[in-house]
Amino acid sequence: MKVLVLGGGGREHAIAWKLSQSPHCEALYVAPGNAGTNAIAENVALSPEDFPAVKQLVLDKGIDLVVVGPEAPLVAGIVDFFKGDDALKKVAIIGPDQNAAQLEGSKKFAKEFMAKYNIPTAAYQSFSASEVAEAQAFLEGLKAPYVLKADGLAAGKGVLIIDDIEEAKQQVAEMLGGKFGDASRTLVIEEFLDGIEFSVFALTDGKSYHILPVAKDYKRIGEGDTGPNTGGMGAVSPVSFVDEALMKKVEEQIVAPTIKGLAGEEYDYTGFVFFGLIKVGEEPKVIEYNVRMGDPETEVVMPRLASDLLQHLRAAADGNLASEKMEQSTDFCTTVMVVSEGYPGSYPKGKEITGLENVNDALVFHAGTKQENGKVLTNGGRVIAMSGRGETKEAALSKSYAAAKTICYEGIQYRKDIGFDL
Ligand code: AMP
Ligand code: GLY
Repeated sequence: MKVLVLGGGGREHAIAWKLSQSPHCEALYVAPGNAGTNAIAENVALSPEDFPAVKQLVLDKGIDLVVVGPEAPLVAGIVDFFKGDDALKKVAIIGPDQNAAQLEGSKKFAKEFMAKYNIPTAAYQSFSASEVAEAQAFLEGLKAPYVLKADGLAAGKGVLIIDDIEEAKQQVAEMLGGKFGDASRTLVIEEFLDGIEFSVFALTDGKSYHILPVAKDYKRIGEGDTGPNTGGMGAVSPVSFVDEALMKKVEEQIVAPTIKGLAGEEYDYTGFVFFGLIKVGEEPKVIEYNVRMGDPETEVVMPRLASDLLQHLRAAADGNLASEKMEQSTDFCTTVMVVSEGYPGSYPKGKEITGLENVNDALVFHAGTKQENGKVLTNGGRVIAMSGRGETKEAALSKSYAAAKTICYEGIQYRKDIGFDL
């Protein structure tokens, strides 16, 4: 099979790395990719949101299967574009259609879906731009802290958690007034859930599913989970506080009903479902759905997937996932993200990265890098994910950290407490 991965981050490098090991993988392209994918695949410089350019590439290279890494092209309807185009119809594409992608693209849509299929989540109410007073009155009936969510995609900044009621009321007015553009002209206000978060992923063909290795990411920039949110500073798999009993609840109360709901709504959903979960007491609840793999969770999930991802994706695209056997390794995998100085605020790009050739006991997944004149340069806030594997979490972590220490660029930063229970 000739395969194209769309995207250019650590998630896409990890997916491409896993696909490249499949005996069924004849040719592998990543668009746009980065300096890491360049070493295992052919990079093609295009934006995954430029659908005509993607089509041209697929036809030129005779691509059989496309994996869509990030959410933006899915929310913009890339799957519908493929299915509605005579020349692309026979190409397998991994991702949900635009309608189902609203599970990530619209918080209100996701909450209504969970309510309909009785999937445990925080109690909520949604409000439109003309309902500022109603939304503020709703806050009065809740306990602090107040959780305000822009309905649409807001580059990871659309969720505010506020202790003071007056400030929350003010933010309600600002959000509904367009603080995050159209994304916040609809607002979801929900009950605060006090617990610890983890990430579960399933691959589905719209009818059946397989659950991938469970992971936890570390979202804040600072040690002890302090400071602003980032795309993710590290991850571990498996997760110490997620035992078999909890996973059983997750599967019975959340994963199975979600897949049933996808079928019930007749969504066209071939791809990954990302369940952003929180353990409250002993009970799992859904914080959010994403319609793609997580980043940096993928950088610990892929190394622990023992069976052939490409074969699973082909089966999913053919509607035959039920007959697949997915296997997980029993080892631990951890990843430490090295980032640019200033991240998640503004940061420089183009800093030369040295020492990569000396990393010999970790998987190096590039996130924001590019190759120029034989040099590898930083090209993003999150730069490289160092994934270590071992018989224990500690052994895996020591490999991740040894790798992080081996490389160098001006302003390199990373959290020193990835893998600790917080
Ligand atoms: P979301 O974009 O919905 O994943 O929200 C971003 C982050 O806000 C989550 O990862 C949680 O840390 C936090 N969060 C969202 N909703 C809640 C909630 N109902 N209770 C507590 N924390 C939440
Ligand atoms: N690591 C969280 C995400 O990918 O959204």
